[in-house]
Amino acid sequence: MTVRKLIEVAIPLPEINDASAYDKMPGIGPHPKGTHHWWARLPLPVARAVLFASVVDDASSHPVRFPTEEAQAAERERLFGIMRKMMQKQLHKHLEVYAEALAQMLRHCGGKLPPVLDPFAGGGSIPLEAARLGFEAYAGDLNPVAVLLNKCNLEIVPRWADHPPVNPEWESSLLGALGAPASSRHEQSSPHHVQSSSEMAALDLASHKGWTSRGYLPHFDEPCVLQSITFRLADALPEKIIATWREELRLCGNEPASDPRVIELRRRVEKYEDLGHGTCLLADARIAEIVQGALLCFDESRYRLLAWCIMPNHVHVLIEPIAGSSLAEIVHSRKSYTANQANKLLDRQGPFWQRKYYDRFVRDEKHLQAVISYIENNPAQAGLVINPEDWPFSSAAFRGRQDAGAPNGAAWGLAEDVRYYGRVILERARARIGHLYPPVKVTAEMAADHPHLKPYVGKELPVIAWVWARTVPSPNPAARGAPVPLMSTFWLSSK
Ligand SMILES: C[S@@+](CC[C@H](N)C(=O)[O-])C[C@H]1O[C@@H](n2cnc3c(N)ncnc32)[C@H](O)[C@@H]1O
Repeated sequence: MTVRKLIEVAIPLPEINDASAYDKMPGIGPHPKGTHHWWARLPLPVARAVLFASVVDDASSHPVRFPTEEAQAAERERLFGIMRKMMQKQLHKHLEVYAEALAQMLRHCGGKLPPVLDPFAGGGSIPLEAARLGFEAYAGDLNPVAVLLNKCNLEIVPRWADHPPVNPEWESSLLGALGAPASSRHEQSSPHHVQSSSEMAALDLASHKGWTSRGYLPHFDEPCVLQSITFRLADALPEKIIATWREELRLCGNEPASDPRVIELRRRVEKYEDLGHGTCLLADARIAEIVQGALLCFDESRYRLLAWCIMPNHVHVLIEPIAGSSLAEIVHSRKSYTANQANKLLDRQGPFWQRKYYDRFVRDEKHLQAVISYIENNPAQAGLVINPEDWPFSSAAFRGRQDAGAPNGAAWGLAEDVRYYGRVILERARARIGHLYPPVKVTAEMAADHPHLKPYVGKELPVIAWVWARTVPSPNPAARGAPVPLMSTFWLSSK
């Protein structure tokens, strides 16, 4: 009897259609498909569905196991259930769905998937999804751009997955951030502060379950739900210094957060913290990793983790506790767990964290954005890195890594290098030929004909497209030989 595959009988079209429409929406975030917009690119959910349904048998092919129409329909519905799960958004974050699909397919092909070859791969939807589903994937195309795209997705990204960046800026900023000896900031750092890049590679930066709350939008209809917390190492900022500042500012402790003296106290505290006083044990990447892992560990079970940053001597966290979890318990459990782990690793004893912690509730959305921005910008503000996402232990960096691609953000190191070397090439190109592409100063005369330019009068704007043309002396006697461009049209695009 001929075996019929599921694709020959039925597939859950409505769900595939919906997922495909979403996949084609512009601006849904960084993704391999956004590298280059290939014409007639197959939506990724379609590629996924077609591959799966081409491998699994339709129930009618197994009349002994599914003797009746009802039994066959029930089995088809079960397979549809797997396919529906495969149609959900951001599937790269649901590795369990890929695992379930793979296990199902393996049952239908003797435990070994066939290789997939797409000789007209274009933007690479089919081979990319094939590789993600566990097939050995091959791609070909006569267009060199398509070949490059597929080379990146199928060869280069997997080869460099889970490797930290190798560019000199990342290494030096990390070494600086983690307390390289040359940095006066970390004169008192622990002996464990400098990690070589091979040691960094050994750190499994993606070993925790991930940042599940990412993208979660908090509600402000319940008071005091969002909490911004700061706790610091035992020797980061002696309590007596804070007491002196309180005295100076005549603070008794009952003042509202908006009191200018409270704001001044906070400013002094933040400034002092950012100077990196004390042993800065969190500058040791192993310790920072423990703290970051501990914060991520309870994400979505005891709180929603909205932002964090682990500085060399203090930690900022923004959370929304989940009903039933008290803030005090959460902070106590995270501090005590990480203190034990860190002391064990460093073979030290004694208080690790300062007993007190500082919390503020977030009032509204504007305040929320300001708090996230403060937390994520703290390393850049303190001069440890240039870009917030370059600091390895913060939500900004974590977001960057999760955005970096397939299937679990494993390509973040490669993405960092691509960004870095892209910047290098741009800077070198600017130095050599930038003078040929000067910005344009918008004048009042220009704005007279083009009113949308009015807000830009007097400003210099970058030019986004140039048309190069040869010039010839004008044959018009009235122009007296003035050079005119040899152009048939000045249109750049009529679309
Ligand atoms: C419709 S596109 C494929 C789109 C692809 N399925 C995707 O999801 O992006 C067709 C591709 O076939 C390639 N092609 C056309 N003729 C070919 C040939 N003779 N040999 C190899 N590739 C060819 C084109 O360059 C183009 O990239």
